[in-house]
Amino acid sequence: MVARIRKAVFPVAGLGTRFLPATKAMPKEMLTVVDKPLIQYAVEEAVAAGIEEFIFVTGRGKQAMEDHFDLSYELNETLDRRGKTAELEQVNEFLPPPGAIKYVRQREALGLGHAIWCARDMIGDEPFAILSPDDLVLGEPPCLAQLVQAYSETGGNVVAVMDVPRDQTDRYGILDTPNPQDRLAEITGLVEKPKPADAPSTLSIIGRYILHGSVFSHLDRHEKGAGGEIQLTDAMARMIGTQPFHGLRFQGERFDCGTKEGWLAANIAFSLARDDRRDQTEQILARYR
Ligand code: UTP
Repeated sequence: MVARIRKAVFPVAGLGTRFLPATKAMPKEMLTVVDKPLIQYAVEEAVAAGIEEFIFVTGRGKQAMEDHFDLSYELNETLDRRGKTAELEQVNEFLPPPGAIKYVRQREALGLGHAIWCARDMIGDEPFAILSPDDLVLGEPPCLAQLVQAYSETGGNVVAVMDVPRDQTDRYGILDTPNPQDRLAEITGLVEKPKPADAPSTLSIIGRYILHGSVFSHLDRHEKGAGGEIQLTDAMARMIGTQPFHGLRFQGERFDCGTKEGWLAANIAFSLARDDRRDQTEQILARYR
């Protein structure tokens, strides 16, 4: 029996420089796809996977996220007075129970590994999930639920993976694996942002992970890696061989909403996937073709 995954970390302290100027005063994670901010999709995905504790690693200028997951008395009162029952439900139905969301600040954006390390005391020694809200996945079952299922089969560590074009390996964490075509690829090595010629495969990690708490002992070293940042991939690489470690080829499509093109594609794909938006979206697309 593997331990249940109860906690998830949401690293949301990044600067979002690839989406400036939109992210100058607004958190990247509050960018909307159709009608919901990215962070809400991530929390809903975590809820669907059975997560009970939600740990946000935030930074300066990220207040809007805390407000989004709080009660808005004025708005509630106004919607109630106007009889807008459906809207009232829309702004409250996604709120986890009081006390379920916790916040910790990463004082400096020193890298994803450092952001996760900031949550160490809230996780302790148990396996936990990580969701990067800017990686949005359209698919059923939701990506983290697929990962939890894979974890129940393998134990150890599991990360969501997908094929990327070889000329883009220097943007991702890449797997070394003897069975890259399988649903569950055994991970024998990990390298962050390798040059295409040096990449051991074209299988890339996306922003969904289930890791054992022992990752914190490796993150404790604060070693800088690719781009001068403290990389989660480097800490994960040190866990290989100590526990099972697999990459899951998840079912669904991933959108990098930290980029303008990924965000635009996500808006189109998510709109087309929704019964209440599909016809209108097709009409708009036809108009601009
Ligand atoms: P990104 O690699 O997209 O970095 O982070 P970024 O700073 O947000 O964006 P760019 O590259 O400047 O455009 C992936 C995830 O990790 C978080 C981000 O908030 C995002 O969810 N992150 C990254 C942190 O929380 N802290 C960091 O130091 C770096």
